[in-house]
Amino acid sequence: MDDPLNWSGDDQERALRAIAPWYDLDFGPLSDDVAMLLELTGPGQRVLELGAGSGRIAVPLALNDRSVTAVDSSDAMLGVGQDRMREAGVDVAPGDMRCLRLDAQFDWVVFGLSTFQHLLSRKDQLASLRVAERHLADGGRLVIDWTAPRPDDIEPSPAIIHQEWVRQSEAGEVVTKSACQELALDRYYGDALDRALPIAWITYQYDATEDTGRVRRSLARFPLRVNLNAGEMAGLLAVCGLRPLDWYGSWDYAPAGDGERLIVVAESAS
Ligand SMILES: C[S@@+](CC[C@H](N)C(=O)[O-])C[C@H]1O[C@@H](n2cnc3c(N)ncnc32)[C@H](O)[C@@H]1O
Repeated sequence: MDDPLNWSGDDQERALRAIAPWYDLDFGPLSDDVAMLLELTGPGQRVLELGAGSGRIAVPLALNDRSVTAVDSSDAMLGVGQDRMREAGVDVAPGDMRCLRLDAQFDWVVFGLSTFQHLLSRKDQLASLRVAERHLADGGRLVIDWTAPRPDDIEPSPAIIHQEWVRQSEAGEVVTKSACQELALDRYYGDALDRALPIAWITYQYDATEDTGRVRRSLARFPLRVNLNAGEMAGLLAVCGLRPLDWYGSWDYAPAGDGERLIVVAESAS
């Protein structure tokens, strides 16, 4: 199972089942991307979030009067946030962003926090962008936020696992997160169209120390598309009838290329 292009929905769900219980402890403290989305969108607007996960973005948008539909294909991820999302008035729609067909249109379609990087092949990237375009209302906007290319994305390297943080869970356990990224070079060349698409294996390891001293380990390894640059995204958008309006390099609007994120705001070209 070392070929990321053979990665199946079941493989993905297995990895997400290991991550989901720790997702909010891990990513919950992130708020700058939510603040940016609150600035971009307006009260009363309809927002479709693709890959909404536990509702980290969807819930605060809904609590601030956006009408939010949250789509995700993972039962594990939706399970973590389902009650919170329903309480906040989010419309939760289990589904796959590569083939979604809702009978509704939106002022905003959002791929938040690196969700787009879960799309490993050209075919899946294009299918999801077409889904996004199809769900845009007249004058609607698309936002995609992903990790900017880094030199070590494409350097074959020994996979060194590093500690990212130590935090206390709500249950009072001390939890340590460690992670590593390994380039899956040469392994993903299943299709000529995908030759230029670097994919990395990401490992997340969460160790929870119970008060007895026993350590419970959750381990997940999953592929992510890395080193996706703005030029490539501009090409994908054009093929799907979308036109970029703004590019940013961070959640506080640094110019693209000056930060750790790449964020594009686009509209339908028709
Ligand atoms: C990095 S998480 C982001 C979650 C949330 N947007 C946030 O910012 O906290 C990516 C999410 O995308 C979902 N996802 C991946 N592939 C998907 C697909 N094909 N269709 C729908 N959701 C998908 C995963 O289940 C996961 O919840």
